[in-house]
Amino acid sequence: MSLPIAVLISGTGSNLKAILQAIEAGRCDARVAAVLSDRSKAKGLELARERRIPTEVVRLKAYEDRGAWDAALAERVASFDPGLVVLAGFMKIVGPAMIAAFPSRIVNVHPALLPSFPGTDGPGDAVAAGVRVSGCTVHVVDAGVDTGPILAQAAVPVLPGDDRDALHARIQRLEHRLLPGVVHAVASGALELSDPPRWRDAPGADAELLYPAPQ
Ligand code: GRF
Repeated sequence: MSLPIAVLISGTGSNLKAILQAIEAGRCDARVAAVLSDRSKAKGLELARERRIPTEVVRLKAYEDRGAWDAALAERVASFDPGLVVLAGFMKIVGPAMIAAFPSRIVNVHPALLPSFPGTDGPGDAVAAGVRVSGCTVHVVDAGVDTGPILAQAAVPVLPGDDRDALHARIQRLEHRLLPGVVHAVASGALELSDPPRWRDAPGADAELLYPAPQ
């Protein structure tokens, strides 16, 4: 049976789209059970509505404080009973209630090669630092900011003349392959989200993309 996933977004949803397309093409054995956002205007919500996938908006401002928002988010996500929670451009830090509700079952895609350049502007920080290689990381979400165990990474060159947007666009093309690949790996059992996570099968055809963390 396909792995039910909840996808959390804040913006465009190009990574959500990549997951949906991979599922539709038979490359990702998952089912998007729900799409949730902290922003009612997140463009990506449309992608879900078009496909009649349930959507929910859980806005921070609707709650007294971050803790109450985090608890409400955990409750709403849990109501869809997902086997995996995917942060795909979700621009809020999830809190202890989310992490307790889905221990080692929340993954995030970040536009830099962690542990370098965590935070909100990975591509801009990479350009500013003058690195020649950057990329994207899919990692398990823990209590820190972009600090959880690394599951997979893929690299791109930083070219002379790149600004943050040019680099981010190049990184996103890889994210759109890496993130569905990791979701499929979890769905198929090739990647076990134990603590610590464990790859059972080394990535095959996707080996140039899916660099599993060393065991
Ligand atoms: C991605 O680059 C992701 O790495 C970062 O936010 C961006 C979201 O893009 N966390 P999109 O909404 O999936 O297009």
